[in-house]
Amino acid sequence: MRDLNILGIDTSCDETSVAVLKGTKVLSNLMPSQSKLHSEFGGVVPSLAKLEHQKTIDSVVERAVRRSGLGFKDIDLIAVTQGPGLAIALEVGIRKAKELAIQYKIPVVAVNHMEGHLLSSLLNTDFDTFTDFKFPTLGILVSGGHTEIIQVDSLSNYKKIGQTLDDACGECFDKCGRMLGLGYPAGKTISEFAKRARKKYKTYIKRENKGEYVYLDLHSAQMRLPVGMTNADSFDMSFSGLKTAFGQLVSGLRLRVEVIEQLCLILEIAAYRQITNKLNLALKSQTYKSVIIGGGVSASARFRSEIRTVAKRYDLNFFYPDQKFCGDNAAMIALSGLIKANFFKQSILSFEQAQMLDREPNLSI
Ligand code: KG4
Ligand code: ZN
Repeated sequence: MRDLNILGIDTSCDETSVAVLKGTKVLSNLMPSQSKLHSEFGGVVPSLAKLEHQKTIDSVVERAVRRSGLGFKDIDLIAVTQGPGLAIALEVGIRKAKELAIQYKIPVVAVNHMEGHLLSSLLNTDFDTFTDFKFPTLGILVSGGHTEIIQVDSLSNYKKIGQTLDDACGECFDKCGRMLGLGYPAGKTISEFAKRARKKYKTYIKRENKGEYVYLDLHSAQMRLPVGMTNADSFDMSFSGLKTAFGQLVSGLRLRVEVIEQLCLILEIAAYRQITNKLNLALKSQTYKSVIIGGGVSASARFRSEIRTVAKRYDLNFFYPDQKFCGDNAAMIALSGLIKANFFKQSILSFEQAQMLDREPNLSI
């Protein structure tokens, strides 16, 4: 594996993220978030995201390169997110990549944002981790925009075998969090409330109808939520039924702190149970050598421990990203670029070819 110096750019959503890598080692990784700007709208507003990216991209690129200790002349390759993401936001990063490519005559590689999440646990590892990485691996990507199960047959050979048919798991958390007045994004806060509640109410968690529902059976409250897709043989998932049921549950309750804690606990259990059910189903369906996770929700300690438990049951290696690389970041985009440069040279565009590059917002694994 060649130790290239790679500049990564990701403007797919609400982070103007720029990173510099030397091989797999992260020299700098900036990701100023716009979440405060969007929080009053309860979700990302594409036109606002675009304006903010435009305002900050030049300075974030400058700072990321400066902080890496390298100069623009040292950069061997630019990796930029092509999709999936918000079209008008992606355009800002791609335009900047083209501009830098021309100015410094640097080749460019277009990266799939989800591939970045999938490979993010390999950041800052040594090259041996790549050789330890046995295939096929089962990837689970859980973010605010996607919830997918991926069969990884080799680095850069992916097949999506399951996905949410409606809302993503993180999106469900964000919408349910809004009903509770927890701000945006709400996933982390829901995790924290659920953690506190788990200690208090662990023994009251029940399952009903062969696992179709999870149930918090308290004297003061009886809270029941559907797990979703329990009768389906496919690896597809669905979170909109959970969101609707959560809304109905919330509407009948007075939202005192302990009630919010209970609601967060039961929501988290229902959401993760659906994912682990599908993980079990996938691992039963064929032999995998390891499990790898990525995406914003994989920052949750509870989520990691649930997936780890299933992976252990099948005696599989479990790979997960460092906390700081779970959410959207450009380091993971640069790493995907490194892998392409080493194994798929045909995907590298000269700085002239790169001028034709366009965003593909619907691109997915
Ligand atoms: O990957 P990401 O940063 O952006 C997308 O590409 O969507 O994921 C953001 C999602 C949000 O829905 C957020 O609520 C959720 O990840 N999230 C979490 C946690 N941290 C972020 N969900 C559960 N627990 C967390 N600790
Ligand atoms: Zn993402």
